[in-house]
Amino acid sequence: MMSLSFSLISLLCVLCGAAAFDLDSFARFVPTESSSSDVKLSFSHQQTTQLTDSDEREATFVSSLFPLFPGDVLNTYPFDVPIPFPQQPMAIRSLWGEIVDDENVSVPLDEVYTHHWFLTYTMPGDDSRNLTRAMTRALAVGAESRGTPIVSLSAPFAFTTTGEESWWLNMHLLRTDNVTNVPACIQCRCAPDGRHGSLSCCQDGTHCHTSFDPFVTASDSDFFDDPAHCPDCNSNTEDIFGPPIRNFIPRPAAKYYRVRYTVRYGEVTPDVKPVRANMGIDIVKGKQEYNVFPCARKESAALAPLAAMKQRRLLLSGEDSECVDTKRATVVVNQPFHLINVRSHLHVGAISASLAGVREEWQCDLRAIYGTTPRKAGDELGYVTGITQCYYGEGERMLQRGDLLRATVHYRRDKHYAGVMGAVLLVGYYPGDTAASTSWEFSVTQVSYVNETDSDVRV
Ligand SMILES: *[C@@H]1O[C@H](CO)[C@@H](O)[C@H](O)[C@H]1NC(C)=O
Ligand SMILES: *[C@@H]1O[C@H](CO)[C@@H](O)[C@H](O)[C@H]1NC(C)=O
Ligand SMILES: *[C@@H]1O[C@H](CO)[C@@H](O)[C@H](O)[C@H]1NC(C)=O
Ligand SMILES: *[C@@H]1O[C@H](CO)[C@@H](O)[C@H](O)[C@H]1NC(C)=O
Repeated sequence: MMSLSFSLISLLCVLCGAAAFDLDSFARFVPTESSSSDVKLSFSHQQTTQLTDSDEREATFVSSLFPLFPGDVLNTYPFDVPIPFPQQPMAIRSLWGEIVDDENVSVPLDEVYTHHWFLTYTMPGDDSRNLTRAMTRALAVGAESRGTPIVSLSAPFAFTTTGEESWWLNMHLLRTDNVTNVPACIQCRCAPDGRHGSLSCCQDGTHCHTSFDPFVTASDSDFFDDPAHCPDCNSNTEDIFGPPIRNFIPRPAAKYYRVRYTVRYGEVTPDVKPVRANMGIDIVKGKQEYNVFPCARKESAALAPLAAMKQRRLLLSGEDSECVDTKRATVVVNQPFHLINVRSHLHVGAISASLAGVREEWQCDLRAIYGTTPRKAGDELGYVTGITQCYYGEGERMLQRGDLLRATVHYRRDKHYAGVMGAVLLVGYYPGDTAASTSWEFSVTQVSYVNETDSDVRV
């Protein structure tokens, strides 16, 4: 049986309209029960080290070994996966994780693709297994976690805890060795034609087609798909998911992996300024996933080599605005805060994102960093291995009630990129906050979308 899965999506939907958090609209992502998968992860503490140059410590936790066959998709139901953290109030400065193999060596994204990490927590007395609440409390990141940790803050700012939280992990992994069409697999392209991608098409227990088997990813439809958008994107199923197997080759044995994560934290002293990390801008305002269609016409394959090279250079540099997908969303600030950190979540194909003050002259650029070496953990060729961030000190970027912020996301259109995301995530310090960061839920009250056609927004 296939379980629907929890997702990063929910993080990005913080601001979906003015309505309160609506589980129903996420039914395709949210598991309502445990997975029947044989894969069970259990974690143990590996080590804690005191850093010599500060009063901070690093604690590392590692999971039991779990098997993945080529093409396997694992997407854990969070309440199946309790994860340990130091049981004390922490001022978290950094949090990162990765997949390691049975020798504890880092595994590259082109072997096991980390679609996302989604850590959530419950407090004593909470109803257990309330997914609606879990989705409003989370720390999440995608494959860019390679070079961009789940949390990265410097003193005096920190993501603070009380020590009473119970933590849970939704981890979405795809083993892409021997997969016949890796982009289709990691874009979660949906059968039958692969024209759109959606997390609903790579849920736990689905399978990407490999050179060893006849399976394809789950068949499902993307309710946001607009057929008028991409008349040429209807693809041959065999091109996307691979041809049926004629001479069936027995698939290789599963490989075994572990999930490993490290938290760096200091004590919660009176100097520590707790941040709220619960504001996000989804560039498609709650649609969360979208498809970027190629601009080049079919004839472009026949372009003279020089023209083709020029076009490619323009695409890579993002200069050819005709051939770059640009999306924008604007929000209004409802409660004053100091902007401390701006992050982004982007998929392969992204060029950059930005956040700008609409009435004031400032802009934060968030650039996708691509790896350059095949099968090298941390520098995987063609993968987004990091996204630059912006940091501000207290008082440097004070946002007032009524201020407008515009997020922009650019994707290349050299190819068809299915199921992409564009999110700009804000970490803020609210003067006067003393409660732990974990006490703030995702909320639509801090910033909210404005209608782009308002005269206020026009610049
Ligand atoms: C990998 O790390 C785990 C957890 O610390 C340990 O139990 C195991 O022995 C290590 N394996 C190897 C091959 O070093
Ligand atoms: C689950 O959490 C939500 C959001 O905090 C809350 O509104 C709802 O009442 C909770 N559900 C149950 C069954 O307690
Ligand atoms: C399967 O993938 C492994 C690792 O990339 C590779 O060594 C092997 O040759 C592949 N086998 C086939 C049949 O493609
Ligand atoms: C946005 O403003 C336009 C023009 O005033 C209006 O037609 C449209 O309905 C508004 N959209 C929303 C979602 O309010």
